[in-house]
Amino acid sequence: VIVLIGFMGSGKTMAGRVLAQKLEVEFVDTDALVEDESGMPVADIFEREGETGFRAREADAARAVLGDKVPRIVALGGGAPAQEEIRALLSRPGVVTTYLKVSLDEVRRRLGDDDARPMLQVADLEKLFDERRGIYEGVADVTVDTDGRGPEDVADEIARRAGHGLPIEVRTSGGTYPVYVGDGIAHRAAELTPGFQRVEQALVITHADLADHVAPVRDALGEAGIEITVAEVPDGEAAKSVEVAARLWERCAEISLHRGDLVVGVGGGAVTDLAGFVASTFNRGVAVLHMPTTLLAQVDAAIGGKTGINLGVGKNLVGTFHQPVAVVCDVATLATLPTEEVRAGLAEVVKYGFIMHPEVLEEVESSAERLLAKDAVALAAAVRRSVAAKAEVVSADERERDVRAILNYGHTFAHAIETLSGHGSWRHGDAVAVGMMAAAYLAHELGRIDDGAVALHRRVLERVGLPVRADLELDALEEAWKRDKKYERGVRFVLLASIGRAESGIAAPRDAVAAAVERLKT
Ligand SMILES: NC(=O)c1ccc[n+]([C@@H]2O[C@H](COP(=O)([O-])OP(=O)(O)OC[C@H]3O[C@@H](n4cnc5c(N)ncnc54)[C@H](O)[C@@H]3O)[C@@H](O)[C@H]2O)c1
Repeated sequence: VIVLIGFMGSGKTMAGRVLAQKLEVEFVDTDALVEDESGMPVADIFEREGETGFRAREADAARAVLGDKVPRIVALGGGAPAQEEIRALLSRPGVVTTYLKVSLDEVRRRLGDDDARPMLQVADLEKLFDERRGIYEGVADVTVDTDGRGPEDVADEIARRAGHGLPIEVRTSGGTYPVYVGDGIAHRAAELTPGFQRVEQALVITHADLADHVAPVRDALGEAGIEITVAEVPDGEAAKSVEVAARLWERCAEISLHRGDLVVGVGGGAVTDLAGFVASTFNRGVAVLHMPTTLLAQVDAAIGGKTGINLGVGKNLVGTFHQPVAVVCDVATLATLPTEEVRAGLAEVVKYGFIMHPEVLEEVESSAERLLAKDAVALAAAVRRSVAAKAEVVSADERERDVRAILNYGHTFAHAIETLSGHGSWRHGDAVAVGMMAAAYLAHELGRIDDGAVALHRRVLERVGLPVRADLELDALEEAWKRDKKYERGVRFVLLASIGRAESGIAAPRDAVAAAVERLKT
C-alpha cells in the first residue's frame, strides 16, 4: 500500500488519482470515504459533530483501508497522521508512507479561500502548518517536494520512489513472493525480505565491481542483526561454473549456513542464476533473495525461479527450479550499467510487448531515449510492467509445461546464434533481438502475421538500437538446435498469432525457416 500524507493543498488526491492509473490499482481518499459513509460533506460533519466526531470517522476509514491488505493508493486527510492510532497503522510492514511536501505560500496559492476546508478557517494556519510538518516528517518513508509541480510529475516521482509499496506478486506452488521495484530501495533489503527476523546469517554472492551496490544491502542486513559473508565470483558467464558453485557450497559449509538462513544474489543474471543454484542445492535448499543489478536480470533472469550453471558443452545445462523469497529491483543500481547492457535488457522488455502486452511497445517507442539515458522514472515503469508480465506467466505455469514457453520468443534462434558464435561474442539481448526478427519473418512466411507486424518488429527494435540483421546459415542453426535441451523430435518455435499473442511448440517446414533466415540477411 502507498499512503499519501501531507497538508491540505499538497495535491494528495490529484497525484493519487494519476498514480493509481499508472500503477493500475484503486485509489481511496479517506475524506471521500468519510463523506460517503456519513452522507455529509466534511464541513457539515465538523459543524454537527465537531472535530472529535470527524476524527473518529477518519480513524474508522483509515482502519478499513489500511487493515485489509488490498493493494491500493490511499490519500489520508491532512490531520489524520496527528492521530496516534493512524500513525500505528502507517508503521505496519508493507505500508510506504509518502509525504507530499508543500510550502504554506503554495498552499495559499492553491486553495485561496476554500470554504469546504474547515481546517483552513483556523485562526493560526501557520502554527497548524508547523505542527503538522513535524508529524509528517516523523512518519514519512519517502518525501516528495510538490511546490511548482503538477500531479503527473509528482505521481511519476512517487511511482519511482515509493513503488515498492505495491510489490508485484508471483504465485507459485510453494506460496507467493513479492517483487519490489523502486529507485533507491536496496537499503531496505532486510525489511523487504519476508521472515528476515528469523535469519541469522546471509551469504551475499556478488561480483567485485559491484561493491557500491552491495554496500547498502550489507548495511541493511547488518542493521537487522544478520551476520554477513560476502563471496565474490568471476564476472559474467564465468561465474556460472561447477567450480565456482563448488567453492560456494564449501563456503556455505564453512560458515555453517543453516536452512533458515539466506543466500543473497547481488548482480546481473549470471550472479542471480548462480546464487539461486547454490541456494537450491546447499542443504537441499536455502532461501534466496535476488537483488538484480542489470536491466535484463530485473525484467527477466531474477524472476521465475529458474537457476542454472554452464558446462563446457553448453549453457544452462545444469539447473533447478528454486523460487526466491523476494526480489528487490532497485533501478538506482542501473545507473552504472553500460548502455549496451541497457539495450540488451530492452530486448526482453520489448519481448513482453510482442508476446503479451502491445502497450509495452508503445511505451518503449515513446520513451526510448529516456530509457537508454537511464532515466529512473522510465526504467522503473518499464521494469514494473515487465516484471508484471513475467509474473503473470510464471504464476500460470511455474515449471514451463506450456504457457511459460512463450517467454522463449526469439530465443530459439538466439540460443543457436550464441552457440554457433561461441558464447560471449554475441550479447544475449542482441541475439534475442535478431531472434525475434527471425521469428517474425517465419510467422509471416507461415501466413500467421501480416506485413505490418513484421515492420513493427523492425521499427521497435531499431528504435532502441537493437540489431535486426544477421548472416546465418540454416545448416549450422539446425546443428545447434539438435543439441538444445528443448529439442523434441524437431525444432519447435514460439511464433506470434498476432501482436500480443504468442503460441509455443510450433513446427515449421524447412523451406519456411530457410526463407526467414534469408530475409534476416537483408
Ligand atoms: N534464470 C532465468 O530465467 C534467466 C533468464 C534470462 C537470462 N538468464 C541468464 O542471465 C544471464 C545474463 O544476465 P545479464 O545480462 O544480467 O548478464 P551478466 O550477469 O553477465 O551481467 C552483464 C555485465 O554487467 C555487469 N554488471 C552487472 N550489474 C551492473 C551494474 N549495476 N553496473 C555496471 N555493470 C554491471 C556484470 O558484471 C557483467 O559484466 C545469462 O547467464 C542468462 O543465462 C537467466
